[in-house]
Amino acid sequence: MENKIKQWTSFKDTNKELPWRLNRSLYTTLVSEIMLQQTTVSTVKNHFPRFIEKYPRLADLAQIDEQQMLKEWKGLGYYRRARNLLNAAKSIQAKYNGAIPVNYDQLIEINGIGPYTANAILAIGADQKALALDANLERVLARYYGVKVEKGLKLQRELQSLFSRGVIATEIEAVGARDFNEGVMDIGRNICTARKAYCEICPLKTNCSALEQSLVDDLPLQLEKKKEKKKAELHLVRVIVRKGYQVLAYKKSSDEWLSGQFEVPSFS
Ligand code: ADE
Repeated sequence: MENKIKQWTSFKDTNKELPWRLNRSLYTTLVSEIMLQQTTVSTVKNHFPRFIEKYPRLADLAQIDEQQMLKEWKGLGYYRRARNLLNAAKSIQAKYNGAIPVNYDQLIEINGIGPYTANAILAIGADQKALALDANLERVLARYYGVKVEKGLKLQRELQSLFSRGVIATEIEAVGARDFNEGVMDIGRNICTARKAYCEICPLKTNCSALEQSLVDDLPLQLEKKKEKKKAELHLVRVIVRKGYQVLAYKKSSDEWLSGQFEVPSFS
């Protein structure tokens, strides 16, 4: 048993200096987990400390407006997440007086919090039994347990179902939810990657089902290899109108791409 726990946690020790793993709270977890969606660890490493220094408590964040939030989010991309985080902070401030609830049903009801964020708050923030199934967890667990279900929503549902029935990830009890989730995320990011799996150095290699069956490169299953997305070319003329130090710009409306951001007049 001791050995088995080591398998699941040993890798995490080398990643304990990540800024969101120091001085944790449910609030810092909410911020970091939303930042980490669709963004690399190295990008978030550069932005998270500055953000938390400026908004150390949920109440500080809940009082800013969307325009300010979009400014704070510069460099992180996917601005929808900035709105989600701000909406969540405002809702939690209003409904729960700033205290993030530690309950899946309450979390999922909060504007801006989806299943991944709710599970991440429970598992990583509160160290409660839950799986924060991001792409890394999905890939590592599908390989380790040999789950042959098509990647994406179907696979996430299958993994959550196997987990809730106590079929997979039972090590979480002994390892602890936070260490389990973050340990597997680290293995997925550094060893069991989508591009290549470095099985020789993987702490999970002794019981990995995909490795035993020579299926590492085939899992998670992708039934129809994603077709190359057609690339569209966009030709734009941008007009810079200057008056002294001022530049003419307009704010993009809510139904436009990059809504809420400013753009100089552009014509296609
Ligand atoms: N990706 C999503 N959440 C993460 C975390 N807490 N640590 C490292 N990578 C992550």
